[in-house]
Amino acid sequence: MTIDFTVNGKSVSLNIDPETPLLEVLRNDLELNGPKFGCGLAQCGACSVLLEGRSTRTCVTPVSAVNGMKITTLEGLGNEDHPHPLQLAFIEEQALQCGYCVNSMIISAAALLQSNPNPGNDEIKQALAGNLCRCGAQPRILRAIKRAAAASGGNGS
Ligand code: FES
Ligand code: FES
Repeated sequence: MTIDFTVNGKSVSLNIDPETPLLEVLRNDLELNGPKFGCGLAQCGACSVLLEGRSTRTCVTPVSAVNGMKITTLEGLGNEDHPHPLQLAFIEEQALQCGYCVNSMIISAAALLQSNPNPGNDEIKQALAGNLCRCGAQPRILRAIKRAAAASGGNGS
């Protein structure tokens, strides 16, 4: 079956088993390694991307479900020369330890800031609630998201 979609602004057309998990397609076929394989069961968030602007777990999303849709991965948010404010803030706050959860945290935060440019602590915690960090980096992650919000025009309060 042919599946057509857009990833980070580029059109993709693949002849593929429609049940293939989107995560596998992104990492193996398109070499986009921002999304990670964590649990494979929609329980950790490591595999998240923005699908039409909404944080979506790609380990349980069959590629057929994204036919005709727009995907943004961590790579599509920014790059070394032009980082997204969240990417910059995570570096500045050193908001990670092992780094495995960073994709999920930044993707969920990007979706949050699109709808709420100046979230409070509780709103941020709620938006990240399903994303697991086993390292205890949550306080720095919270600070980084508030820093990014402030840099983007919110006051970060
Ligand atoms: S790998 Fe997808 S939610 Fe854990
Ligand atoms: S920094 Fe290791 S899981 Fe969050």
